Amino acid sequence: MKFFLDTAKIDEIKEAHDTGLLDGVTTNPSLVKKAGGDFFETLSEIASVVDGPVSAETVATDHETMLQEGLKCAKIADNIAVKVPLTVDGLKTCKALRAEGIMVNVTLCFSANQALLAAKAGATFISPFVGRHDDVGFNGMELIEDIRTIYDNYGFDTEILVASIRHPVHVLEAARIGGDVATMPWDVMKKLFNHPLTDKGLDAFLKDWAATGFSIL
Ligand code: E4P
Repeated sequence: MKFFLDTAKIDEIKEAHDTGLLDGVTTNPSLVKKAGGDFFETLSEIASVVDGPVSAETVATDHETMLQEGLKCAKIADNIAVKVPLTVDGLKTCKALRAEGIMVNVTLCFSANQALLAAKAGATFISPFVGRHDDVGFNGMELIEDIRTIYDNYGFDTEILVASIRHPVHVLEAARIGGDVATMPWDVMKKLFNHPLTDKGLDAFLKDWAATGFSIL
């Protein structure tokens, strides 16, 4: 499973990159607003730090303008994935950008049928939002299961990018189901490293080692 960071904050991205476990970044207009700074400069800096795909979201709602935005975003760097919404115009734009060899992340997916359409439009990534699904009383992970089944039935190579992740259990469940990518806030990624028994065990080993008086180096 690939790990993407869901943020436009460069300091968080650098910290996550330093772990050696970061495979990409997703941004959206709300995350760009939260990070502050110029859109193009921010995306360009992120794309220079991260080796993998960096999603830059379009904001037009009609196909022609969205395509122009997508082509402009794609020029920021070779690893930019253009994000388009799951609408008729979004999927038309997806198809056109894919024909140019540009990576496309189709976002705001809330149903398996929508994910099927995105795969047919040649999307590189489909972003089903699990947390927002949970928020309105549905089980977001059932959506991931359905998409996995459908994509496997037909051999689609669109990657399932599990989005709107709120806690480590979302990551665990997405990995069990076979989501290809989990995009998460840095706060959630950091939590994946932690276990109280790891801390307790390490503490005991270090105390015993100190009592031996040995030194490794
Ligand atoms: C990422 O691509 C999505 O835009 C993001 O995960 C949405 O997360 P949220 O529901 O926490 O805003």
